[in-house]
Amino acid sequence: MKTLIAYSTKTGNTKKVAEAINEVIDNSEIKNIDDVDNLDYDLVIVGAWIDKGTANKEAVELITKLKNKMVAFFFTLGAYPHSAHAKDCIKRIENLFIKNNNEVIGYYLCQGAVNPKLIEFMKKQFPVDHPHGPNPERIKRWTDASSHPNLEDLENAKLKFKSILEGING
Ligand SMILES: Cc1cc2nc3c(=O)[nH]c(=O)nc-3n(C[C@H](O)[C@H](O)[C@H](O)COP(=O)(O)O)c2cc1C
Repeated sequence: MKTLIAYSTKTGNTKKVAEAINEVIDNSEIKNIDDVDNLDYDLVIVGAWIDKGTANKEAVELITKLKNKMVAFFFTLGAYPHSAHAKDCIKRIENLFIKNNNEVIGYYLCQGAVNPKLIEFMKKQFPVDHPHGPNPERIKRWTDASSHPNLEDLENAKLKFKSILEGING
């Protein structure tokens, strides 16, 4: 089975997860989404980073091109993986695939360090009580995210995709 892992990344978090997943899939090709020039694969795995509550623009553009395919996805985000926000992101991305009749066979997500420049910007730009302001809860989340994806996240990504693939190979 020919598999494409197509990832998008700004600061490298999602690329790390893509490379880990690539290690456990036979006959896979890994490409930055910008370099994807054909979709002639049996399985397409899309890797995104979360931008304003959904997959980043380049990932959405690729997902929109996929029709009647077997697909899976993964993403990194600043929020905690079990948060309501993360669940909303899963739903939104899954719906983008389903809209075009793709069969989603699985997904994986983990936290990814938020760009320190963005954190500095938000600290300067917004007062503490603003929805994006640096309140203690948000500062803790940024700090917690800063060490991800860590080795455990990468191992979990491998395990998850091994099991997804076993599911379809029987
Ligand atoms: C412009 C921008 C918007 C973001 N929006 C969100 C968001 O809505 N929710 C979230 O949990 N993380 C958000 N993040 C955090 C990133 O999704 C996270 O740090 C991700 O791991 C970055 O991946 P990358 O290193 O592959 O670029 C945002 C980051 C940036 C730079």
